Amino acid sequence: MQHLIRGRVLGFHADPAQTEDNHRYLEDGAILIEDGRIVAVDDYTALARPDLAVTDHRPHLIMPGFIDPHIHFPQVQVIASWGAQLLDWLNSYTFPEEARFSNRGHATRMAGLFLDQLVAHGTTSAVAFCSVHPESAEALFEAAEARNMAMVAGKVMMDRNAPDGVLDTPQQGYDDSKRLLEKWHGRGRLRYAITPRFAITSTPEQMEMAGALVREYPECHLQTHLSENLEEIEFTLNLYPKARDYLDIYESYGLLSDRLLLGHCIHLREREIARMAETGSRAVFCPTSNLFLGSGLFDEAGLSAAGIVSGIATDVGGGSSYSMLQTLNEGYKILQLNGQKLHPLKAFHWATRGNAVALGMQDRIGTLAPGSDADLVVLNVHATGAMSLRAERAQTLAEELFILQIMGDDRAVQQVYIAGAPAKDITGI
Ligand code: GUN
Ligand code: ZN
Repeated sequence: MQHLIRGRVLGFHADPAQTEDNHRYLEDGAILIEDGRIVAVDDYTALARPDLAVTDHRPHLIMPGFIDPHIHFPQVQVIASWGAQLLDWLNSYTFPEEARFSNRGHATRMAGLFLDQLVAHGTTSAVAFCSVHPESAEALFEAAEARNMAMVAGKVMMDRNAPDGVLDTPQQGYDDSKRLLEKWHGRGRLRYAITPRFAITSTPEQMEMAGALVREYPECHLQTHLSENLEEIEFTLNLYPKARDYLDIYESYGLLSDRLLLGHCIHLREREIARMAETGSRAVFCPTSNLFLGSGLFDEAGLSAAGIVSGIATDVGGGSSYSMLQTLNEGYKILQLNGQKLHPLKAFHWATRGNAVALGMQDRIGTLAPGSDADLVVLNVHATGAMSLRAERAQTLAEELFILQIMGDDRAVQQVYIAGAPAKDITGI
């Protein structure tokens, strides 16, 4: 059955940083949907037919759903934990909390609530770290399958420098990852990401096992962390004394490729930047986390000038908001401190098609191209009194987008569609 969604429609087909011809905006537009896919996008009058059901979202703005390419599912009850930088924060708050996800009942409850939060904030796809326990990944994949969401996730592999309750072994980490991957990767809209947490929590033996998985399943994503915090970097290089730099650790186990997502990438050396560019490895900017944990300022212009593709993500619970709008807000401010500018068109491209490109999934999500999945968010620039007051003086699409970018959060998310189905109603949020 076809149906039509009507409103002000915005979609990107190219990166505003690279070309003027990057988006299409329809003042009275419509998206024709059938079987969860986008069939056509055009002016409402060009697509309207007497037999078609129409959902009218005017005057709101319809765009592809947000994609969050770095988030930690077992940190739903870690977000907003006071007073620590990365390593203390992991030890004091995060590892003890993640230990609770060995309990399948807890993991299942949290998985549903986690995905409800993503949807409430307009995020229709995410790349998630689970806990070390296979139960946590099972729970998240099940919940994502029930919601028909395009999720990428993996259980973290970690075998040292953390409490026993969150450790595996090289063999167990390999076996559990492989079993989960075989079961879930490619099932419906789900994908598996091989997930060594970071070099500090993996022995060389475990890194070998992660490399073996990458060689066996080169189509899978791989996610980890790189150069987030100065103390982290020092500790890491002490653990791997032969490495030329932090990236070299991952490189020496054969992990670098355009499927690799490296969270943070703040304090990089020249050689690391050059190797990331040569191998196509992705950087993922996590603004609210980098400010919250006092980690540092991401150099977007420097990395993109070197030819590195970056995503932008929340990193909840180091990150302090599930909202990709708030993430763009803090991203804008970090780039300000670096003497760089985040234009609203570039920002909204980044949170949608840009993140899809970082994942190599732009043929399915992040755009409004016919044939792609109908994952959509409907945004309301009048969501709060303060936004509405400011919006009175907005004259261009870019100004409206910037108000959403700076002042918006879940209150601005009017509706969400996942594979063509309204999702806010389903989750009851
Ligand atoms: N590095 C290793 N694990 C983590 C984590 O859970 N959060 C963040 N922000 N950095 C990490
Ligand atoms: Zn992270």
